Amino acid sequence: MRKFFSINVTFFEKMKITKAIYAGSSIRTGQKPSRRLPEFAFIGRSNVGKSSLINMLCGQNRLALTSSTPGKTKLINHFLVNDSWYLVDLPGYGYAKLPDKERASIKEVIKDYLNNSEEMILLFVLIDVRHDIGKIDMDFLNELGENGIPFAIIFTKGDKLGPNARAAQIERDKEMLSEFWEELPVCFDSSSQTGLGKEEILDYIGTVLSEVK
Ligand code: GTP
Ligand code: MG
Repeated sequence: MRKFFSINVTFFEKMKITKAIYAGSSIRTGQKPSRRLPEFAFIGRSNVGKSSLINMLCGQNRLALTSSTPGKTKLINHFLVNDSWYLVDLPGYGYAKLPDKERASIKEVIKDYLNNSEEMILLFVLIDVRHDIGKIDMDFLNELGENGIPFAIIFTKGDKLGPNARAAQIERDKEMLSEFWEELPVCFDSSSQTGLGKEEILDYIGTVLSEVK
């Protein structure tokens, strides 16, 4: 049974984003923006809604590029928020239709970021709320556990299910997680279309930031 390794917080600080700007793209940690500040990164299967969620949190439509074609984000994109921390848009994993070589190179970009980013204080793993957590996601989460990388889960595209169906699916996912994890990670319900989860996710970031200062 895995021990959940995350930053568990008992109270939420308020967090408001007043400014968010693109701060650069990279494929290796050595090319990250030179200003070293705390980073909150977003990862998940291709097309799960990472870039859309970053835009929703920042209240901007076109900060991170989104697309209905999976595999849009191939680089690591840093966005500087309130001049004091970064949101990081990572490429998606597990997109079956990409050529092997390209998939391997994206895997390498993700691995390098996760292994070598001392500034990353929390990784948000996004899961589409319409489906059961798949093997690819579960394997990825288990690997995070093995490497002691702190993470929280965000269920995306909440607007595509009614509230009851959504709650039932999240319950099912939590049951699946508890087969591997002794303690459940922090989970958020979200929709980039309706803004569901915005305040909770931002306040969680605010709280984590206040704990690491
Ligand atoms: P890659 O960069 O390709 O890995 O994808 P991504 O995870 O960044 O996904 P992206 O934000 O580009 O969104 C993929 C598709 O899902 C787009 O067509 C979005 O409009 C749509 N989408 C994202 N979030 C939501 C959501 O909350 N609700 C709905 N209805 N659609 C969403
Ligand atoms: Mg993207």
